[in-house]
Amino acid sequence: MANVAVIGAQWGDEGKGKVVDWLASRADIVVRFQGGHNAGHTLVVGNQTYKLSLLPSGLVRGKLGIIGNGVVIDPKALLEEIARVRAQGLAVDPGNLRIAENAPLILPVHAALDRARENARGARRIGTTGRGIGPAYEDKVARRAIRVCDLAEPDTLDAKLDELLMHHNALLAGLGAEPFEKAALLAELLALAPQILPFAEPVWQRLDEARRTGRRILFEGAQAVMLDVDHGTYPFVTSSNTVAATAAAGSGIGPSAVGFVLGIAKAYATRVGAGPFPTELHDETGMLLGDRGKEFGTVTGRRRRCGWFDAALVRQAVKVGGIQGLALTKLDVLDGLAELRIGVGYRIGGEIFRHLPAAPGAQAAAEPVYETMEGWCESTRGARSWGELPAQAIKYIRRIEELIETPVTLLSTSPERDDTILMRDPFED
Ligand code: IMP
Repeated sequence: MANVAVIGAQWGDEGKGKVVDWLASRADIVVRFQGGHNAGHTLVVGNQTYKLSLLPSGLVRGKLGIIGNGVVIDPKALLEEIARVRAQGLAVDPGNLRIAENAPLILPVHAALDRARENARGARRIGTTGRGIGPAYEDKVARRAIRVCDLAEPDTLDAKLDELLMHHNALLAGLGAEPFEKAALLAELLALAPQILPFAEPVWQRLDEARRTGRRILFEGAQAVMLDVDHGTYPFVTSSNTVAATAAAGSGIGPSAVGFVLGIAKAYATRVGAGPFPTELHDETGMLLGDRGKEFGTVTGRRRRCGWFDAALVRQAVKVGGIQGLALTKLDVLDGLAELRIGVGYRIGGEIFRHLPAAPGAQAAAEPVYETMEGWCESTRGARSWGELPAQAIKYIRRIEELIETPVTLLSTSPERDDTILMRDPFED
């Protein structure tokens, strides 16, 4: 039985929540493997709307949720999120949520540094979520992170906080921000420990057993390939690897267990935060896409930048992310537009590129090369079969498939869970 990994193929907010929720109902275990509470998934189930940041979406479907070691966990944010969904009637306990004992923690000092650095950058800021994601990952690779397992060892915590604060307080002072006191941080962590530790375990053992007994695992990616710290539009990226390969290292399972890789892309493009976006629209069509697509960040509330579908970029995401099939979302936002454009490459300094080069200067200078297509006037909203789609909409999807060299295997036609057209079941691959 195949497992499935779901990753974003653009700059995030592709509608992963709905697709993951839909797939979660057919999985046994749902695993988060990177990112932190910078992610935001909105799930509409019956008359309840769940806004999840750290919790694996499968919990809503009564499945076992695992937070892998590749995730950076803000323990306070996690407990608040658990309390919020419990108040909505969802059971979250150590029986259905397990957390990797070796996952690094996000502390208040990380969020403070994230924000102080963004302020200091001024006009050159990255537009981070300000939640401490970058500084927490930096501490992980610098080998000074406090991890979930450390919460069980007060002496270890005490010593690690000395090292951590030696580093961070010097930086904060340099940026004109308030330093942190060890005693207060230690007291806070020791108070949180009994609430977090019952969830902690070596999750790799559970995943190994699940793999051996043929249970279906869904790996739930956060952010997207163009925000990947290696493959994205660096430095305007998040601080983790968002490609499907991370599902293995970020949860403690071998690469062959990751299974089918489903990429998610909107039928147009959006981005929050700063950074290159060659097909961005600054005109009324861009506003229209934003209004119709309700393009406001789940976490930040910021209006998202909008533009045409960039097939050159999604093709690149398909290649580096290992995407084998694409789920296309929000096609209905394009309904009624007389003419559509698809980005097929870039003109940079008189030269044509079929991919976005890595150098920031070239990315900033990239002018999109477009193909133009006729739109459709009929509504595609809520379509549940291929036959309900207008011929021009099918043509648009077929052209995307050709350009990205990958099949569209799933189409989502509204936020409702059942408004989905499945061309190929990823769990059967
Ligand atoms: P960070 O992950 O908070 O460090 O932010 C780095 C960049 O990633 C910023 O441009 C954020 O707007 C973007 N980002 C982080 N998480 C998400 C997400 O879940 N959706 C879309 N953009 C995100």
